[in-house]
Amino acid sequence: MNRVFADFNATSPLSAGAQTGMAKAIELWGNPSSSHWDGRQASEIISKSRDLVAQKAGVSPLEVVFTSGGSEANTLALMGTYFLGPSRLRLLTSAVEHSSIRDTARLLENLGVPVDYLPVQKNGVFSLETFKQHVDEFRPTLVSIMAANNETGVIFPIREISRFCRERGITIHTDAVQSFGKLDSESWNDCDLISITAHKIGGPKGIGALLVRRGTQLVATHYGGTQEIKRRGGTENTLGILGFGGACTDFPNQQDRMRIRELRDYFEKQLLETLSEVTLNGADVERIPNTTSIRFSGIPSEVLLGALDLEGVSVSAGSACSSGSLAPSHVLLAMGLSRTEAKECLRISWGKTTSRDDVDRVLEVVIRHVNRIRERRRQ
Ligand SMILES: Cc1ncc(COP(=O)(O)O)c(C=O)c1O
Repeated sequence: MNRVFADFNATSPLSAGAQTGMAKAIELWGNPSSSHWDGRQASEIISKSRDLVAQKAGVSPLEVVFTSGGSEANTLALMGTYFLGPSRLRLLTSAVEHSSIRDTARLLENLGVPVDYLPVQKNGVFSLETFKQHVDEFRPTLVSIMAANNETGVIFPIREISRFCRERGITIHTDAVQSFGKLDSESWNDCDLISITAHKIGGPKGIGALLVRRGTQLVATHYGGTQEIKRRGGTENTLGILGFGGACTDFPNQQDRMRIRELRDYFEKQLLETLSEVTLNGADVERIPNTTSIRFSGIPSEVLLGALDLEGVSVSAGSACSSGSLAPSHVLLAMGLSRTEAKECLRISWGKTTSRDDVDRVLEVVIRHVNRIRERRRQ
């Protein structure tokens, strides 16, 4: 059976560029910190990958701190700022962040840091006015707001947020894991700290970066050497870094993104026209081009998910990190859905390798199973 993968917000297949990069890392296996020839070769290829990542991220190579992925980049941004001055920290974040931010925020609360969670409206985002009011009321020293949500694809006004924070001397971090490769980097690279990861753009898992803009202070949370200009100790993950750099040579361009948006819009239009009692989450606001979060009333997502999986279609009910959990998505609850409604949603996300045939296949299978399950429930 030919499977269709429609869960690109969870991860993506290794691109050809990533595979080439990783093959190079296998060949040049020296320790980049060694001063002999083998070490210098490894160090040189890392440096080339750093340049490639920096170029796509719209930052300077010296601003790239390689980490084990987006989760570590998020943790480093928050904890690295905390260690600068625990008593000075006051964090403002949103109610719909990825679990790596939520869990670190909770840890900070346990350490005595005041943390405020900005609620979102029904459409999944808050207005800039609401954000400004919260800043004026709570006077945070650190703001961490994602550039786009992983479950709904809803985009946050991060450019305006970062400018507002900078004018007030507030450190601004954004989780751009789902925006890297889907939005122009100018929309988020005015932030002081930016998290990205490789495996959402065709790179390997276990490698990402925190982009630390020039002049931004941060205390390291990993020790062991002077790697990454002392901002993240430990022998570099050469294989991962080369894969990340290689994936950047296959980076989606404007045309790719437009094609994906057209496929996504076609998919949503067909579903809405064919099925009744279907609701798009975040329908009336800007979203990254590849994501659909949709509710099929009366159908528990795990039932539909299982049926689709048996038909060779991979989608998800929410974020990959929470897909083993029976709890409803905190993102959808924050948008005002009831627990039952939140458990009737699927996330379908497309990528660079998606074809029109893939979309048609998913449409056919979803429509058939939604009708079948509803019919059976009526009996
Ligand atoms: C918004 C967001 N932030 C952070 C992460 C974590 O990235 P990683 O899987 O590289 O740890 C993810 C992964 O799904 C994500 O979607």
